[in-house]
Amino acid sequence: MTAAATETAPVVRIHELRSHADAPVRVRGWVTHVRSSGKIAFVVARDGTGTVQSVLVRSAVPAAAWEAFATLTQETAIVLSGVVRADARAPGGFELSLTDLAVLGASPVDYPVQPKTHGVDFLMDHRHLWLRSPRQAAAMRVRSEIEQAVHDFFYARAFVRVDTPILTAAIGERSGLFSTEYFDEGSAYLAQTGQLYGEAAAAALGRIYTFGPTFRAEKSKTRRHLTEFWMIEPEVAFNDSADNMRLQEELVSYLVERCLERERASLMELERDVARLECVAPPFPRVSYTDAVATLQAKGSAVQWGDDLGAEDESLLMEGYDRPVFVYNYPKAAKAFYMKANPDDPRTVLCNDCLAPEGYGEIIGGSQREDDYDTLLARIRDEGLPLDAYGWYLDLRRYGTFVHSGFGLGLERTVAYICGLPHVRETIAFPRLMNRLRP
Ligand code: 4AD
Ligand code: MG
Repeated sequence: MTAAATETAPVVRIHELRSHADAPVRVRGWVTHVRSSGKIAFVVARDGTGTVQSVLVRSAVPAAAWEAFATLTQETAIVLSGVVRADARAPGGFELSLTDLAVLGASPVDYPVQPKTHGVDFLMDHRHLWLRSPRQAAAMRVRSEIEQAVHDFFYARAFVRVDTPILTAAIGERSGLFSTEYFDEGSAYLAQTGQLYGEAAAAALGRIYTFGPTFRAEKSKTRRHLTEFWMIEPEVAFNDSADNMRLQEELVSYLVERCLERERASLMELERDVARLECVAPPFPRVSYTDAVATLQAKGSAVQWGDDLGAEDESLLMEGYDRPVFVYNYPKAAKAFYMKANPDDPRTVLCNDCLAPEGYGEIIGGSQREDDYDTLLARIRDEGLPLDAYGWYLDLRRYGTFVHSGFGLGLERTVAYICGLPHVRETIAFPRLMNRLRP
């Protein structure tokens, strides 16, 4: 095959090579490694779908291709023309026998992210380049698979996706708000949750979910807090707290299963122990908050009934569990105003957190919502919340109030857990942390 013969060959992506065995193709991508023995040279390149090794024989390619080879450095953008050869030893099972090679974009030799150990700050400053490393790209692929799986899960169950506002008046969770001036309307706040709007939409559509960015101006420098994160929030008319937990375990198990099925190679790249994921299936164990506190105290924790559970308590509690666990019915004082009072123990509310094993902790917070107008009004007053901002929310309890429940799954914490990543900063392309606004 000559260079001319491959000039018109189809452009394919590396994951498609297997369907072009023995045929000429063109592949565009970036150089990861090169080596040469004088007469024969090798180029390893990636294109985002995989990595392929190409073989270049000096006597078999145009002089210009051989000269181009000599200029290749890590990250040079190239187009490879050649014939696909099955080779059991090659990563992916195929390599390219080159007929031509051309440079699309040169890359100076000072490419900053080298395959050696850099400090975290250096890598975060170079996040725009660090993303090209195999582990980072693998985490992005898993994230994307989870996002798609979320949509498929709800679509199959006839949920309607509803997009809720990002600019809001002051409503939501208790943690810090980001604010900005909003014309003549005073301050607008970046949404901490879409839930309250989701509840209104659930009365219109029955079963809905939101999937959007949420913001918390929390001064938390931990491995599980971002200031901007993505949340999936289903809201279901006529579901009680028990129904709510069943939906959560189905969703989490489905997300894990999809990643095992379609992103196993990425999980391998991340060195994830997939045996820890293969056992994730319903039912998840259910532990009441009160029992959790007793267990923690027996294990030496200083936690007192009434406290919210901190990250350390969550890890301690999760010892010995191989799958996520629900802790349900927390004290009213530790949770948000909208949660329904527990009729069997008014000190508590009908809610749950879903805790992931291996130290990942809370990936979901959910609850049955207070559906009684007077009780909710009293809660809003007790919490000192501005009544005028909640008038519309109270209306949902005036006109055809209904038992309903929902939850928020934190995407980044879920990606961290499924990928086995130690910190949420590697689960999103450009993380926003207390001390990180660039790049
Ligand atoms: O428990 P949270 O605060 O619950 C809510 O926002 C409810 N309105 C959800 C609902 O019922 N519709 O947050 C839900 C989840 C947490 O379990 C966690 O996974 C994630 O959102 N999360 C964060 N993730 C990253 N960084 C942060 N600062 C987070 N805060 C919460
Ligand atoms: Mg929570």
